[in-house]
This record gives sequence, structure tokens and C-alpha cells, in this order.
Amino acid sequence: MSLITLGIESSCDETGIALYQMGRGLLAHALHTQVAMHNEYGGVVPELASRDHVRRITPLIRQVMREAGMSPDQISAIAYTQGPGLGGALLVGASVANALAYALDIPAIGIHHLEGHLLSPLLSDPAPEFPFVALLVSGGHTQLMRVDGVGQYTLLGETLDDAAGEAFDKSAKLLGLSYPGGPALARLATSGRPNLYKLPRPMQHSGDLNFSFSGLKTAVLTQVRQSSNDGQKILDEQTRADIACAVQEAIVDVLAHKARAALAQTGLDQLVVAGGVGANRLLRSRLTEDISKRGGKVFYPDLEFCTDNGAMIAFAGALRLAQRQGKKDYGFDVKPRWDLQEIVLRN
Ligand code: KG4
Ligand code: ZN
Repeated sequence: MSLITLGIESSCDETGIALYQMGRGLLAHALHTQVAMHNEYGGVVPELASRDHVRRITPLIRQVMREAGMSPDQISAIAYTQGPGLGGALLVGASVANALAYALDIPAIGIHHLEGHLLSPLLSDPAPEFPFVALLVSGGHTQLMRVDGVGQYTLLGETLDDAAGEAFDKSAKLLGLSYPGGPALARLATSGRPNLYKLPRPMQHSGDLNFSFSGLKTAVLTQVRQSSNDGQKILDEQTRADIACAVQEAIVDVLAHKARAALAQTGLDQLVVAGGVGANRLLRSRLTEDISKRGGKVFYPDLEFCTDNGAMIAFAGALRLAQRQGKKDYGFDVKPRWDLQEIVLRN
């Protein structure tokens, strides 16, 4: 029987568990999101996040095993998110993974969270084939990578300051929307009128593949203040929606422009979009339209696997195990800050 990998994701505010079998695919997966718990604080409270992972992780593992009809002795390896992320939250997943692997006498394998995101479109059908360009857009990262295979990643460009998700979240906060701001802003933007407000597209024509989003947040703040000075103490719903629409347009415009440029620069014709912001519908439709016009193809993970989840970790673990990685010494550490370039395989 081919390898069955249990995947554990606990890097931030989602506990994700999944079982993946080589040759068969995803057997079962489950997710608990802490969004409601952090909502009242306007962002993730790390200590609360860790405690909630402790509470959820074992019941979720049991649930996934039950749904897949598996017993623990059928698992071949355990993959867990080793970083980057919140230190305490990562430690919960890492210690459960290593303890369980030790008890079952099977390998444990630490996975880079972004590698999970990067490879997640391969879980979908049709899947892209190597090589491709990946646009990684999450709450903490905005990167364009050339992907030639598992562990073969070349950084083409990245944000010099805020990530795209952060730009969504901070702008949403300025508009009085609750955490997590990205999806809330996208929802509000649907009733906004396009082109009423012109926001900057930082570095769009910088000639390289880097991004910068911190200026956008300042421009949104200025716009919100200006609209308030126009006699509206509290912005009315329509003005907020119009600004939300302009924010989304600006972010999507820059991302789409740089993604096209990355394909042109590498000469590749497949683009993979991964990470939470990849769930944004405007981004999806803009990229699909732009890139198919040029004879290219865009691949997305299924919506549920765009944001953090256990499936991408189980899957990345399975691919890494196929390369004979994974260890049985069970001493572990976590890497809250971890550059993706550090996991590139050297020949
Ligand atoms: O990949 P992810 O779930 O977590 C990280 O690893 O950061 O990404 C979360 C980010 C947040 O900034 C969230 O606001 C953003 O993805 N996001 C969205 C949408 N859904 C999630 N941003 C814009 N539109 C969406 N539909
Ligand atoms: Zn993520």
C-alpha cells in the first residue's frame, strides 16, 4: 500500500488536519478556524491562538482518522508546519506531530508553510506541470517564484514592505471592517462603483518583479479622512464601498501586472496562484482573462485550499517523503521566521 501522510497545520489561526495517500489523493481533511475568537481583538492574539490549537488538535486528528476509516498504525508519516508563523502556535503542531510519530515509530517531517501553499494547486484537477511561475499571496507574503520541481524554487520578486493580504487587511480596518479584512473588503467592494477614487499602484512600473504596498494604506487613510472632511463624520455605506472597490482594483492591478511580467521574463506559460489572497474573485477573473489572452494558463487551488489548511501540508509532506526526506529522531524545533530559499534542494 502506498504512503499515507497525516498533515498538521497550526502556524496561525487555523488548525488544519488531513490525510493524503499517494496515488489516491486526499482521504479526509478538517479545519477549525479561530476567526470568531480573534474577531473582537481586531487581529490574531498569539497566546489565544496557541491555546486553541491545543484544544482542537487531537479531536480533529481523531475526526479525520474516523472519516477516512483509518487506524493510526496505517499512517506512514506525519508532516507538520515547522514555520514560518507564530512560535507558540507552531510548537503545538510540531510537538503533537513528533510525539505521535515517536509513538507510532514513523518519520516526522517539518514543512515550510509557503511550500504547502506553493504546491497546493497540484491537489486540483487539472494540475499544472513543472515548470511554472507561482504567485504566492498570503497575509504575510507576496512573492513570485519560478518552480521547476519539488524543492526547486527560484525567487523572482517579492514585496519590499507589506504583503498583499496585509494591504487588504489594513485598508479594511481603516474602513471599519472586522478581521480578517480581506474577504470583508472584497464583499463590500461588490456594491462599490469602479473608478470613483484613484489610488496609487506602487512600483507597478518599476521594471522588476518586486512589490510595495505600504503606500497604499497611507493613500487609503488620506482618502478616508478626506471623505470624512467633506461633511460626513462617519463614512456612509456607499462611500465605504466605493473606496473598497478602489483598493481591490489597485491591489489586483499590481498583482496581475507583475504576474504577466514574470511569465514574460521566464518564458513560461503556466501561472499558479496560491495563498489566502488567491481566494479573491476579482484577482482570479483578471488573471484568467489576462493570461489566457496571451495563450497562457492559470491554476488555482480549490477555494477551501487557498487559505491555511492541513491538506497542503499532508501533500507537501508526501512529496518530500517521496524524496526520502523525513526523520525518526524526533528532536524538533520550529522556525517562526524562515526564508523559503533555505529549503531549496541543492544538487
Ligand atoms: O494564506 P493565508 O490564509 O494565511 C497566511 O498564511 O497569511 O492568507 C490570509 C490572507 C489574509 O490577509 C486575508 O485577508 C486574505 O488572505 N484573504 C483575502 C481573501 N480571502 C483571504 N484577501 C482578499 N480577498 C479574499 N477573498
Ligand atoms: Zn498561509
